[in-house]
Amino acid sequence: MEKVVSGIRPTGNLHLGNYFGAVKSFVAMQDNYQSMFFIADWHSLTTHPKPENIQNSARTILAEYLACGIDPQKAPIYVQSDVKETLELYLYLNMNTYLGELERVTTFKEKARKQPDNVNAGLLTYPTLMAADVLQHRAHKVPVGKDQEQNMEMMRKCARRFNNIYGIEFFPEPQNFYFNATALKVPGLDGSGKMGKSEGNCIYLRDDDKTIRKKVMKAVTDNGPQEPNSKRPEVIENLFTFLKIASTPETYQYFDEKWNDCTLRYGDLKKQIAEDLVNIVAPIREKIEDYSANTALLDKVAKEGADYARQSASETLKEVRKIIGFRIY
Ligand code: TRP
Repeated sequence: MEKVVSGIRPTGNLHLGNYFGAVKSFVAMQDNYQSMFFIADWHSLTTHPKPENIQNSARTILAEYLACGIDPQKAPIYVQSDVKETLELYLYLNMNTYLGELERVTTFKEKARKQPDNVNAGLLTYPTLMAADVLQHRAHKVPVGKDQEQNMEMMRKCARRFNNIYGIEFFPEPQNFYFNATALKVPGLDGSGKMGKSEGNCIYLRDDDKTIRKKVMKAVTDNGPQEPNSKRPEVIENLFTFLKIASTPETYQYFDEKWNDCTLRYGDLKKQIAEDLVNIVAPIREKIEDYSANTALLDKVAKEGADYARQSASETLKEVRKIIGFRIY
């Protein structure tokens, strides 16, 4: 069975955009691949977070992913910093990666622009750490968003170069598995294109029913349909996208007809969306609360995940040391 590995950037709580994008595709993959997921807390050090934030975020993320359906029996989930084997491979990969190519990575250039006082070496070598995350398991596929394209290129370059230097087909070149391609794109509630944390237009999986209803009712609209069968402006199309995501095809058709004969009332449409979203989010939220209260279970999941990942990584590292010419004990 093909191996799949992906990292989760610890950036706050999951919203519906994450849920219908990355998370659902992770959950689908655990049945068809030998999957492993990890919380990329080392990568988060590039921005110098406070220790208390690091500790809290790993449990928070674990609780949310488990609540969404990641089953650690099928797909072990671990915390990156628990698997120190990664660092050894990171060092080896850094020796074969050149300053020029790392400096050309757009995410590096962007981050350097955003934090000019903190252009640290970790930021520069972000792609080689990411390569070590995946290559240590000799994984074949990496579910990622489009924004990771260049990091994935670097990862394949690391694999290829290692293989070339030592004249051995050791690392597979991991392929991108774009969940954006098949995933539903969840729009923002403010009429803007996409639901995203930085856009501040999100419904979070931890939002209570009242908050969800309030957010949906405040969604941007216009003066209503003016002519029969007209094309919907983006803000309204976005609401229909929510219907598509959250409601039944019959409900979608009902509101579509109302739009087409100009009898649609946005209040009714929003109420429908709000209730359907509540029905999706509420059971997940309850599970998040249950898991969050069970820190012993969360720690056990992380520990077992780490044991599994360390086993997998140390098998690779043993071979790597041999190939490079180091002693193995
Ligand atoms: N860079 C990824 C992101 O920003 C997170 C990540 C770290 C990752 N290591 C990885 C993703 C390895 C896939 C594989 O989302």
